[in-house]
Amino acid sequence: MAAPLVAVVMGSKSDWETMRQTADALAGFGVPYECRVLSAHRTPAETAEYAARAESRGIEVIVAAAGGAAHLAGVCAAHTVLPVLGVPMESVSLKGMDSLLSTVQMPAGIPVGTLAIGAPGARNAALLAVAILANSRPELREKLRRFRAEQKEKVLRESSLEG
Ligand code: RP5
Repeated sequence: MAAPLVAVVMGSKSDWETMRQTADALAGFGVPYECRVLSAHRTPAETAEYAARAESRGIEVIVAAAGGAAHLAGVCAAHTVLPVLGVPMESVSLKGMDSLLSTVQMPAGIPVGTLAIGAPGARNAALLAVAILANSRPELREKLRRFRAEQKEKVLRESSLEG
């Protein structure tokens, strides 16, 4: 199996139901990836080490998903210069607003590209990771163009709401 290009990390196993959409979308584009549960709070040292080693392992993009006081993406970004995409998980108490604000409000100097809360963000994180990888991979860029064209065709096919 090819070495992973994208690391999908999440703060808890409970995030997997949402984050499998990132994994599925990456698989759909034929992008090798790996998924790990790593928590900025519960496994801080392991999280830092994982992010610090990612580049030397050939990873090119990190997708980090967390909910609540969601520091995971920021912590990953602090330990690598790879692009880090944050996906705020929908939380029970605040519907993901806590996760969104924790992930998006990075102080200047350590960027996290933050996606939408929950499933749309999980899916878009994969598409954005593919777009980043496609900068140096023409075949992937072609797949992205095809994906957009098919998406458009589907919307147009289903656009009539009568009868
Ligand atoms: C975060 O806390 C995780 O990313 C998850 O979204 C949330 C709840 O985690 P569990 O209590 O379900 O493990 O760290």
